Amino acid sequence: MKTKLVQLLVENQGKYSSGEALSQSLGVSRTAVWKQIDILKKNGYQIDSAPKKGYKLIKRPNGIQEYDLDLFLQTKRFGQKVTYHASVPTTQSVAHKLAENGASEGHVVLADEQTSGRGRLGRSWHSAFGTSISMSLILRPLLEPQQIPQLTLVAAVALTRAIEKVTKLEVDIKWPNDILINGKKIVGILTEMHSEPGLAKVVILGIGINVNQSALELTQDDRNQATSLSIEAGMEINRAKLVAQILYELEWLYDLYVENGFSELKVMWEARSISIRKRLKAQTINGTIIGTSKGISPEGALLIEDDAGVEHLLYSADIDQ
Ligand code: BTN
Repeated sequence: MKTKLVQLLVENQGKYSSGEALSQSLGVSRTAVWKQIDILKKNGYQIDSAPKKGYKLIKRPNGIQEYDLDLFLQTKRFGQKVTYHASVPTTQSVAHKLAENGASEGHVVLADEQTSGRGRLGRSWHSAFGTSISMSLILRPLLEPQQIPQLTLVAAVALTRAIEKVTKLEVDIKWPNDILINGKKIVGILTEMHSEPGLAKVVILGIGINVNQSALELTQDDRNQATSLSIEAGMEINRAKLVAQILYELEWLYDLYVENGFSELKVMWEARSISIRKRLKAQTINGTIIGTSKGISPEGALLIEDDAGVEHLLYSADIDQ
């Protein structure tokens, strides 16, 4: 009930919600609503209670709205414009629409919950209310469409740096762009673009992070393969601080990449990757390859030598390792 109550208050932020309306939406008594509000206040929520009007959320702890980010933001462009939604089908579609309407590079879309989050390779992505980070960053790089996979690797480097700085945890990159702690997934990255011949016009960089979910909150399917930063760190993580650090690392690494090319970023990616010089199994659209990874090519493709000594360059695949 607590999460649902917070969600209703956030969706109606700045306005009063009557005790009666809240009790009906939650299917509990008005006294139960009042008791929960009291608990929220004791936990740092600023909620105005007014007779006859109801409850109005002023500010909550660990939020990811513009004013939460402002406390930590150290960037010049990334995150200077923020579009926030309490709940949205997917931040990717919101960002695509904003970009179509001329939104500038660095504009970021954040949501506390996604109801139809998208993952790589047509999969879905689950983002629970209030405990995860779902963000989509609008980029307008002067790059060719075939360079965009490199940009995803740049994002993976930025994310590992940001997570390590904020949580002090050690994280690994699994090619192409999964971020893992002790073999369990913590971050997913999805890059989508609108291109024209020779130019990747708009790139929407989607990032999903398991931040403060408890083991119980991770969906049944995910529990064995995924974890959250708070489970690993043993403490609650400040989401706004993490988002701000991600935007900071992304901004400087993206600028470095656009100006100087991929070579410096390739070295940084390889230093954090667990996908090189390893035996692994790659599922590709053309079948399964088992062999040893030799590293990544200058374009960011994974080079695997199979057991017959044949080399394969993979641009897209699912890796078991
Ligand atoms: C993956 O499959 O690993 C990529 C997952 C990407 C999820 C993020 S959450 C924010 C953005 N909105 C989405 O619908 N997907 C991306």
